[in-house]
Amino acid sequence: MNLFGRDFLKLLDYTPEEILYLIDLAAELKDKKKKGILTDVLKGKNIALIFEKTSTRTRCAFEVAAHDLGMGSTYLNPSDSQIGKKESIADTARVLAGMFDGIEYRGFEQEKVETIAKYSKVPVWNGLTNEFHPTQMLADALTIKEHFGKLEGIHLVYMGDARYNTGNSLMVLCAKLGMHFTAVSNKKYFPSEELVNICQDIASKTGAVIDFSEDPYEGTKGADVIYTDIWVSMGEPDEVWEERIKDLEPYRVTMDIMNNAGDSCVFMHCLPSFHDLGTGIGIDIKNKYGLNEMEVTDEVFESDRSIVFEEAENRMHTIKAVMYATLKEA
Ligand code: CP
Ligand code: NVA
Repeated sequence: MNLFGRDFLKLLDYTPEEILYLIDLAAELKDKKKKGILTDVLKGKNIALIFEKTSTRTRCAFEVAAHDLGMGSTYLNPSDSQIGKKESIADTARVLAGMFDGIEYRGFEQEKVETIAKYSKVPVWNGLTNEFHPTQMLADALTIKEHFGKLEGIHLVYMGDARYNTGNSLMVLCAKLGMHFTAVSNKKYFPSEELVNICQDIASKTGAVIDFSEDPYEGTKGADVIYTDIWVSMGEPDEVWEERIKDLEPYRVTMDIMNNAGDSCVFMHCLPSFHDLGTGIGIDIKNKYGLNEMEVTDEVFESDRSIVFEEAENRMHTIKAVMYATLKEA
């Protein structure tokens, strides 16, 4: 498998074999890290990390992985760079490609990261856009594989806002890897018809199943994984909270829902999560709408059914695999 020089912008651009290769490579790099075996095979290279939205996991994963691979990294955010205000995305891409060996971009429209890739002669990696979050998917797949020993045939149910980056990307992941994806939500929050059609087409070749339900109990029955994400994503206006809460409260992940799914069902979340009052936004929402927890109850989040911190750690191992595969000459 040779992915040298490739961009990593969305899973739709990758074959099932390439995705599985990256997951296996991540497992191998994780094993080496645990054994203290160095993997600094990219010494002398440098990467740029552009973040137009905030981040804990993705930024730290790129920085630690780059360091483990022997590379230097430079973090840029819109407030202390010229990006967008004084210099176009196309010009920025060409400037950075002259100095760096790879570029990570987190921002708003998918079109922007595609533009950076078009103008950059070095690999570009999508660290999250409104539409897709592909590095998150590799971490999720590795976590599921570690837990269940396989991916094919696993039934993943996504509850909540399924038409944003995480929901969209999980549907693509499941379609590519022959999994069963169910979006359980108010139908306003199902992925777009265009993306559903693309995924159904992929599913017809891989044996995947893609379906939808507005009934939280019927939709979660027999699930292996129940996955959710925050109800209002980065970059969305505060005004949407009221409607979102009204629409998505019936789709909160509760212990009742987990039990309805079955004894072996696990809980996943890309994080960050509003499962208690430990955040500023959590307290604001409590004051305005009286909620103590949002997309998932604290009981589920803290239970032994929850594998969210294994999932978070895997962000680093999988991002390392993406950089290794696209920057290391075979
Ligand atoms: N899951 C995820 O992308 O987290 P960050 O926003 O902290 O990077
Ligand atoms: N849907 C969330 C994902 C965060 C990792 C957001 O875009 O804010």
